[in-house]
Amino acid sequence: MTTLPTGPGTPPPGCPAHQAVPGQDPASGLPVLYGAEFAADPHATYERLRKEGVAHPVELAPGVEAVLITGYETALEVLRSPYFSKDARRWTALAEGKVPADNQVVPMMGWRPSLWFADGERHLRLRASVDDALGRVNPHQLRAYVQRSAGQLIDRFEHEGRADLVSQYADPIPALVFAQLFGCPDELTSRMAAACVRMMDAEPAVAQAGGGELAMCLGELIAMKRASPGADVTTWLLDHPSALSDEEMIHQLVVLIGAGTVPQSAWIATGTMMLLADDRFASDLTGGSLTVADALNEVLWLHSPLSNFSFVYAVHDHTLRDRSTGAETAIRAGVPVLISHAAANTDPVLDIGAGQRAANTSHLAFGAGPHACPARDTAGVIAEVAVEMLLDRLPDMVLEVDSAELTWRPGPFHRSLTALPVRFDAVRATSTQPPVAAVGEPTWNPEPAPSSIPPAQTSTRKPPVSEPRGLRRWWNSLVGSRPGR
Ligand code: HEM
Repeated sequence: MTTLPTGPGTPPPGCPAHQAVPGQDPASGLPVLYGAEFAADPHATYERLRKEGVAHPVELAPGVEAVLITGYETALEVLRSPYFSKDARRWTALAEGKVPADNQVVPMMGWRPSLWFADGERHLRLRASVDDALGRVNPHQLRAYVQRSAGQLIDRFEHEGRADLVSQYADPIPALVFAQLFGCPDELTSRMAAACVRMMDAEPAVAQAGGGELAMCLGELIAMKRASPGADVTTWLLDHPSALSDEEMIHQLVVLIGAGTVPQSAWIATGTMMLLADDRFASDLTGGSLTVADALNEVLWLHSPLSNFSFVYAVHDHTLRDRSTGAETAIRAGVPVLISHAAANTDPVLDIGAGQRAANTSHLAFGAGPHACPARDTAGVIAEVAVEMLLDRLPDMVLEVDSAELTWRPGPFHRSLTALPVRFDAVRATSTQPPVAAVGEPTWNPEPAPSSIPPAQTSTRKPPVSEPRGLRRWWNSLVGSRPGR
């Protein structure tokens, strides 16, 4: 049986056997899930680890150890097991100060009184309110919110002929949609967005102040909705028989917004990249047989937006058994166990070929077990409509660089492009936003983040009506040719 180490710094620093091995921390000898090398090709690390079994000691940040689960079946077993808890107060290295409280991974992993860190009855109660509130979202209304937000953003860059679809589209769109879903007025949404930016600051004091400001804004939103209810998720959470306290409400909202924004943006950007770069979608070879939903589903298999995200802690020391090889691995209580959704989805035991992935939704990109993502359908509508709007409004867009040159944001938890530069025929500014009923007026008009791409020559002509090529032909074959604007 393999026993995995529990504390930072094993084996001893300076051990010559662990000097300068690619993808390893020379001090601990452990594979690392941070840095440029891992961001460029995380699957190389997963493949290396897989050869040694299904559970592996890794570093999430210098000196922060966890056990990474790379096997699909073992991931499912752990996510569904009552022997593992979500309660991060069990994390021994943090409790003993071996991982400092201001370490960069603590904001993500440290305990808070939300559903995400709750077990058993408490989780059931908090989760019911989220499930029921999200269940009341009308998908037609949601589509209209996304169309409107997407339209606002595309209006801002369609006349430029170029855009970075990460900073100018995929990143801002979740916040715009959530503002409408949660019934948040303009001024408050702007303050919340600014607070979220401060929360990401590398300076701990600034990040902490940002967290305080966000909590204050959410407190104001809750007070506003208690006094004046609306047809929105905030009101539905407040109305729920779970009778959430104000503190519980704040933490529910933080998880909903926090857990939704980053993967939603990553999913939209990577899905668009795949449509533009992958021949099965971009060329006419398929005769239009693959849909936007198929491409988005493929992203969930190959580039799980939350690549390594579900944390659990063994309640007692525990033994995991690899069903294929029979090999056993001892997991110590108090060590974070991290599910690699990305590695599990590409586990060769699944034997799922490219042609079989499109319609198959048994991937683990949304997790599994009691803490599986409650917003799977909501997220699917947002991603699909956001990508469809791009294809509809900019049907001749192409990547400005070879897809192999695209880079990914570093970090252990997500798989997210840093930029997605595209070029298209510049068109006159138009307003094609569909009307959005109820839930107040749309909120927050973000200034687009500065793009690293120099502005293109702007033309005022309408999109070409000539014979469509590549992606455009494929899209037209699915939705029917649209008249040029
Ligand atoms: C509308 C957008 C989204 C919202 C509001 C949202 C919300 C949430 C919430 C509240 C949880 C915690 C559930 C619990 O602990 O019981 C969660 C979990 C999760 N979400 Fe989402 N999510 C969204 C989009 C996504 C997307 C696009 C992905 C990736 C494709 C994703 C992947 C996950 C995963 C893997 C978990 C499980 C975490 C765990 O086991 O600890 N979510 N989500």
